[in-house]
Amino acid sequence: RKPTEVGRFSLDGNRKFHHDRSEMTCFCPPVREKALLYNLDLNDGYNSNRYIKRDENVKEKLDHMLHWFLLNKNRFDVKNDEKGENVIGSSPDFLLWRGHLTKMMCTPFEKREGWKMAIQKLNNTIYISEVETEESRLRRLNRTDRESLMTYWGTRFEGYMTGNFPKPGHAPKPMDQTSSKETITNTNRAFCSVLRSRLHGRHSLVYGAEVDCCHPVDVVTPPDSYIELKTSRIFTSPRQETNFYKFKALKWWAQSFLAGVPQITCGFRNDSGIVTELCDFKTLDLPSKTYAWDAHTCLVFLDNILQFVKEKCNGSNAPNWSKVGMLTYDAQKQVIIYDNLDSEEFCFLPDWFLKEMQ
Ligand code: A3P
Ligand code: MG
Ligand code: MG
Repeated sequence: RKPTEVGRFSLDGNRKFHHDRSEMTCFCPPVREKALLYNLDLNDGYNSNRYIKRDENVKEKLDHMLHWFLLNKNRFDVKNDEKGENVIGSSPDFLLWRGHLTKMMCTPFEKREGWKMAIQKLNNTIYISEVETEESRLRRLNRTDRESLMTYWGTRFEGYMTGNFPKPGHAPKPMDQTSSKETITNTNRAFCSVLRSRLHGRHSLVYGAEVDCCHPVDVVTPPDSYIELKTSRIFTSPRQETNFYKFKALKWWAQSFLAGVPQITCGFRNDSGIVTELCDFKTLDLPSKTYAWDAHTCLVFLDNILQFVKEKCNGSNAPNWSKVGMLTYDAQKQVIIYDNLDSEEFCFLPDWFLKEMQ
């Protein structure tokens, strides 16, 4: 079922939670002379005090989503809301981040990167929270300077494409492409949409998704008004374009499809990090551009794996509020392993959440 937005929240420059859309930004690309190429330097601000980087050693797990869930707990209980206006419905089968669903959904075509998901169950809801694999931890800690710079490029691009969320009735002010030197890139800041969806009629899901920006004119409602921003290297051979649709487009599609985001705007850059062109992709068109992967396989796989997790959560010794299960995808062997863990090490439901929920 097409996801509907049931909530939103923001994380500010210090990564503090706000139950509002204060961090939402608007799509507002720089002005450009007709028929001329863009000249957006994604290196701008790197290695300067205008780059504030989120501390990747801090593992937030599912905390912000749990926080949102507590604030909206009454809306999941039909009985509690007499007017019935704000009702979301019964508690979901699964509560997690969109990124977890993206990873699980792309597994049939993922032969390089494994993943690990911790699982706990409380009342009738299964909570899933990703655990960093040893491989990705080592990759993160041993990132080369070039890799760090290229990671910055993507977030700097977001700065070029967005103005601040305008007050109602006020258009955002596009930045001049050369005079954006005051732009601060702070990767702590985030606007998140909370979505509710149902998969194959049998799994109800509530998940949070970081949204890059929204359409400046309110002609459609979220998530139809949201736009995903991406960067990619310009194609200099047909083979590069084929590979783009073969590999990268799968992740782009899965990520935006799950959040119901209809449009992906890509800044095409060269090897020096200069964006010269913008190009719009329609999320729903991406699957038809290649035979290397297909949407149906992804969705059936996601349905099956969620069913598998549900069954594991019903047995004796199953995960609960004090006990955790671990689902691991080994990409080299292409197998999924499930374990009930005895240690509390990976329990991620915090005491403040359990206290309110029990
Ligand atoms: P690109 O994807 O354009 O390279 P998203 O597109 O998901 O909104 O992410 C925005 C940007 O954050 C990415 O831009 C990239 O620069 C950075 N990013 C995404 N995933 C990341 C990760 N796992 N680790 C570090 N940076 C990441
Ligand atoms: Mg994003
Ligand atoms: Mg993006």
